[in-house]
Amino acid sequence: MNRTVFVNGEYLPEDQAKVSIFDRGFLMADAVYEVVSVMDGKLLEFAGHLKRLERSLGELNMAKPKDFDNLLEIHRELVSRNNVLEGGIYLQVTRGVADRDFEFPKNAEPTLVMFSQQRPIIESIAAASGMKVISVEDQRWGRRDIKTVQLLYPSMAKMMAKAAGVDDAWLVEDGFVTEGTSNNAYIIKNGKIITRSLSHDILHGITRSSILRYAAEAQMVVEERNFTIAEAQNADEAFISSASAFVTAVVQIDGATLGEGKPGPIAHRLREIYIEESRKAAI
Ligand code: PDD
Repeated sequence: MNRTVFVNGEYLPEDQAKVSIFDRGFLMADAVYEVVSVMDGKLLEFAGHLKRLERSLGELNMAKPKDFDNLLEIHRELVSRNNVLEGGIYLQVTRGVADRDFEFPKNAEPTLVMFSQQRPIIESIAAASGMKVISVEDQRWGRRDIKTVQLLYPSMAKMMAKAAGVDDAWLVEDGFVTEGTSNNAYIIKNGKIITRSLSHDILHGITRSSILRYAAEAQMVVEERNFTIAEAQNADEAFISSASAFVTAVVQIDGATLGEGKPGPIAHRLREIYIEESRKAAI
């Protein structure tokens, strides 16, 4: 594979793209990211991801990269140069290159790196059969609303899930589910969709925001509040959402099977609505 990637203003073959060993993204995880999905060669939810990127940068007092105003064009160029029909574009901004120091550098130029990933996102095993999850203590930092690249703990939680023979982990803090390792978490009871409300505790999912809007438009009842693993195990259905998983049903939580152990009707319907609406709005 030799994709064309984007690094600091240049399109390069991936094996020639380089970032300094002094980059603060590398040394301090001083970086934020976004993942925009691609369907039929078009971008999904671009405006939402751009807005959240701007917010993440602002919360960390990180300057915008000089190509900030060209991001739509760069996304499209990467889709086109790499013939991406389905998959995503990964974007990362770091505070830039500076000698190692805990103080933020004064004049560093932000680093901007972007690359494409071609992969099926509409048809997947998880979409067809549903996912199994285990619960794991949430040991991440306290500003999960900022989309930083500090992904070691989520990555460890994912490995705990794999070691347990399941697909993913739901993170639990003070007895309540926060979210999945890389997705937002929901349960459905008596037709009501329940998901944790927005705060510093979870990422403000772009997919979450659209799903809650589509659910309301379809006259579904949504309740934004905390829930426990025990409540989730007794729910009728459960699901997760993210840019790349859309809506994917969860059919087992800590060994307890939900309903008939296959994706339930509401999660299935929400996935259909989400894909249909996203396809219409893709740019
Ligand atoms: N993950 N919560 C966490 C911790 C996430 O990492 C993500 C996204 C989400 C869902 O956000 P959105 O709907 O905006 O994708 C929630 C991305 C896809 C990733 O890390 O690859």
